Amino acid sequence: MRPDYREIREAASARPEEFWGQVANGLHWDRRWDKVLLHDADNPVGRWFVGGELNACFNCVDRHVQAGHGDHIALIYESPVTGTSEWLTFAVLQDQVARFAGALLAHNVQKGDRVLIYMPNSVHAVVAMLACARIGAIHSVVFGGFAAKELATRIDDAQPVLLVAASCGIEKGIVLPYQPVIDEALALASHKPLGLIYWQRAMGPAELDRADHYDWTAEITSAKPADCVSVAATDPLYILYTSGTTGRPKGIVRDTGGYLAALSWSMRGIYDCPPGETFWAASDVGWVVGHSYIVYGPLLNRNATVIFEGKPVGTPDAGIFWQLLAKHRVRSFFSAPTAIRAIKQADSEGRFAAGHDLSNLRAIFLAGERTDPESLRWVAQLTGKPVVDHWWQTETGWAICANPLGIEEHPLKAGSTSLPMPGWAIDCLDGEGQTVLPGQTGAIVAKLPLPPGAAPTLWNAPAAYEQAYLKRYRGYYLSGDAGYIDDDGYVFVMTRIDDVINVAGHRLSSSAIEEVLAAHPAIAECAVIGAADELKGQVPVGLVVLKAGVSIAVGDLQAELVANVRANIGPVAAFRQVYVVGQLPKTRSGKILRKTIRQIADGGDVIVPATIEDRSVLAPIYALFGRAA
Ligand code: COA
Ligand code: AMP
Repeated sequence: MRPDYREIREAASARPEEFWGQVANGLHWDRRWDKVLLHDADNPVGRWFVGGELNACFNCVDRHVQAGHGDHIALIYESPVTGTSEWLTFAVLQDQVARFAGALLAHNVQKGDRVLIYMPNSVHAVVAMLACARIGAIHSVVFGGFAAKELATRIDDAQPVLLVAASCGIEKGIVLPYQPVIDEALALASHKPLGLIYWQRAMGPAELDRADHYDWTAEITSAKPADCVSVAATDPLYILYTSGTTGRPKGIVRDTGGYLAALSWSMRGIYDCPPGETFWAASDVGWVVGHSYIVYGPLLNRNATVIFEGKPVGTPDAGIFWQLLAKHRVRSFFSAPTAIRAIKQADSEGRFAAGHDLSNLRAIFLAGERTDPESLRWVAQLTGKPVVDHWWQTETGWAICANPLGIEEHPLKAGSTSLPMPGWAIDCLDGEGQTVLPGQTGAIVAKLPLPPGAAPTLWNAPAAYEQAYLKRYRGYYLSGDAGYIDDDGYVFVMTRIDDVINVAGHRLSSSAIEEVLAAHPAIAECAVIGAADELKGQVPVGLVVLKAGVSIAVGDLQAELVANVRANIGPVAAFRQVYVVGQLPKTRSGKILRKTIRQIADGGDVIVPATIEDRSVLAPIYALFGRAA
């Protein structure tokens, strides 16, 4: 008999080496590990498969070709924005990746070097990522919606040898040239990569008139295919930057062996997606979901993976998800709550879903932000499929909590992310570090060591890792989320405990936006909060206080501030609302009461701390958001 969920969790917690060792046996190793888990004072988070050597690209691609699956579909590219549909087999993917890896070598990219990838969802982005993995280079993909300054920060931190970029992206029918953004970023950055390879797109080619600019097609045509190299299981596969509580992004480091083991377990255990089936994560390769479930997870598990360059609505309409799910007989579908809300807004009666055969679809998985129960019920009713809200973070690389459909389907509770996955010992703690009672809210933490896949450190910043995640509660990883666990052990993730905000499933730092606002010469001080939004979950809202004696038309100032955030952080911040106020509410020690402002903006209960300096400051803020004080 197959073990049930409780047995699997018990095995992973009582005998982690045996449990994960068995999972890892399903991968191809060039050298078997000496130790499955190294957990000691120097490695509080745990290091997995120490001494082992393998190659991520080999496990995702070559191994399947060698096993006779070369003519099976590996990538399905659906780009409604360009009217393109493309299929690539594992054999063709292997050839392209080996060639591009050869091109990287020709540009002197060595094992351990970083390569920064700035591309929209595309076959080329996936090929570039796998090519890095093939030669042991560390990729760092930057989401296309970030502006030049954010790109420059990442270039300076990762110090890439080479940049690989698309010549343009396409948003809402508009061609967005990437070259000006990249040129500006390179001018801002202190680090200078040796070169830049452009994938030239016909609708918006880049100017390749500089000696260090190269053309993807020419490179791949002339390159000598490169073989996979062995890397240590503990070597980084990639760095992915995400927002933290400061303006400086955190470079999440992902190791190789642990990550592949965790992903390969999740493809069966959570997503119930047998090899040969089609998996679709409607995310972007610039986010962690894209890394784990557009690229590595499905390919590792020999699934065809859909790469979608479009939006849930408007490309061309709210039926695109249903149409593609039916067209490709997708087995497991991963999306974001905000995408479901966008479809619901555009097509509340689900007319666009009619007539599409979803019979092969096992379930819909949602993550990136809390799924509001109403949207969850709406999509469940429309499709007749289980809808699994599951919780994870860029840091963790895979789900902390989910409903493990491949093992045992548990009753779904709207508003909950279900149950902890193997290796995740989740607790809710109060300020003193005591476990709160079931149903009571606390900081959600995971007991150390963390399971494989979770980030062991931050790039260039191990001390910041300790400070952000390990210092607050000894022996635990602080997730940064708060919520509660009910009597059945279901985990409800309700809110962040820090200044991270979540806009349309995109994680942003309110401090980063505040830094941009504060740089305006008219601004004395400011606060940015994430206010509830029906479509995007949250949107950033800025409150600014003018310097004494400044005279500026409010409309002009607002327009300048909105433009500054767009130029400095990027359109993805979706920053549109900023208000001038006389004062910001603060505690007596001078801390801005962002949480109180957010509660006022959201229209719910407002808890005003007793330490507030001057309660009268709140009146104009209530008025601003149309509420009585
Ligand atoms: N390159 C350049 N600009 C980009 C971009 C990219 N890759 N991605 C987004 N943008 C721009 C958008 O065009 C928009 O610009 P605008 O201010 O000129 O309109 C802005 O950034 C905000 O984008 P977005 O938040 O995506 O809003 P939207 O109105 O375009 O679309 C949704 C709304 C809900 C349809 C969209 O946010 C969505 O599909 N979200 C799902 C997110 C997701 O899957 N996340 C993965 C986590 S699992
Ligand atoms: P990111 O690192 O961009 O994936 O964002 C991670 C953060 O998104 C988490 O810390 C949560 O705040 C939020 N998040 C992700 N998935 C969920 C979920 N299913 N429910 C509630 N919040 C979520």
